[in-house]
Amino acid sequence: SDPALVERARAAKAALGDRLFVLGHHYQRDEVIQFADVTGDSFKLAREAAARPTADYVVFCGVHFMAESADILTADHQQVVLPDLAAGCSMADMATFDQVEEAWEELEDAGIADDVIPITYMNSSADIKAFVGRRGGAVCTSSNARRALEWAFSQGSKVLFLPDQHLGRNTAVLSMGLSLDDCVVYNPHRPGGGLTRDRLRDATMILWRGHCSVHGRFSRQCVDDVRQRIPGVNVLVHPECRHEVVVAADHVGSTEYIIKKIEEAEPGSAWAVGTELNLVQRLANAHPDKTITFLDRTVCYCSTMNRIDLPHLVWSLESLARGEVVNRIQVDADTAHWAKVALDRMLALP
Ligand code: 13P
Ligand code: SF4
Repeated sequence: SDPALVERARAAKAALGDRLFVLGHHYQRDEVIQFADVTGDSFKLAREAAARPTADYVVFCGVHFMAESADILTADHQQVVLPDLAAGCSMADMATFDQVEEAWEELEDAGIADDVIPITYMNSSADIKAFVGRRGGAVCTSSNARRALEWAFSQGSKVLFLPDQHLGRNTAVLSMGLSLDDCVVYNPHRPGGGLTRDRLRDATMILWRGHCSVHGRFSRQCVDDVRQRIPGVNVLVHPECRHEVVVAADHVGSTEYIIKKIEEAEPGSAWAVGTELNLVQRLANAHPDKTITFLDRTVCYCSTMNRIDLPHLVWSLESLARGEVVNRIQVDADTAHWAKVALDRMLALP
């Protein structure tokens, strides 16, 4: 990265001192992650967001829904900044508040809403989290989805899982012992979700038809190809991958789990990793004693995570150092209250 920009970022950070706290998701670029005070997966970052109450400014190097959660979980005097407002998430955009309200009405019309506990993946907007909080549900992340589902099934007999069908299905089938037949996919673009009332009533897991465009690109063929190319390779994937990919893999877990797995791996071992490319490249560079390859043959960054680059970070830090708060992410009080109810239920999971 440009040495002049690196120097400016350093100087702005030093000028802000303890008034600044920088959080960085594992999918961020190297040029950005070097300035993070804490790095993590979305669960760790949600827990860490409030860890520095002396900081006036929390600069979130990640995507919009993460910055919203940080705003909800930090104290009122703390201001959360997203260095580029265009850093959204296509998966989170796949469930809008109106669509979810409409789906809930379908569940009411089918006479099952009282049996359903809604669970939303962290990768959703604050108003979806608030919707879930109001209706007795919780947030989950890829590192606690099993525990969240166990909790949900202790509260009700059915789960509406938003917005990632793959995380929902993979967790239900591989960790909870449900069958694929127990799961239905609710399509918000079709009347009634594209399901008959009877099918809705029969289902145990109602999966929202959302997915991650990055992890959705890995296929069963990628797994078969890499096993051919590298005999004895360990295939390690994120649970946002399609079910057929997760079933064919050797290990599945959140980004924090993936990092731990590689750190603990034997020198000389070979790993094909199915997650975002910034993280896989960083792992490969940090572990030259292990063979670490990307599961796909094509390049696969998360384009919105990559929006946060060094120029945007420098701009936001220098603005803050001048006392000018740019790109503040602020969730309105009522939404924040109910979203926090859902987030706190997650943070209280055993
Ligand atoms: P985790 O941080 O929970 O592993 O999720 C990955 C992801 O896609 C974040 O956008
Ligand atoms: Fe969204 Fe997928 Fe990018 Fe994560 S990796 S921010 S889920 S599009």
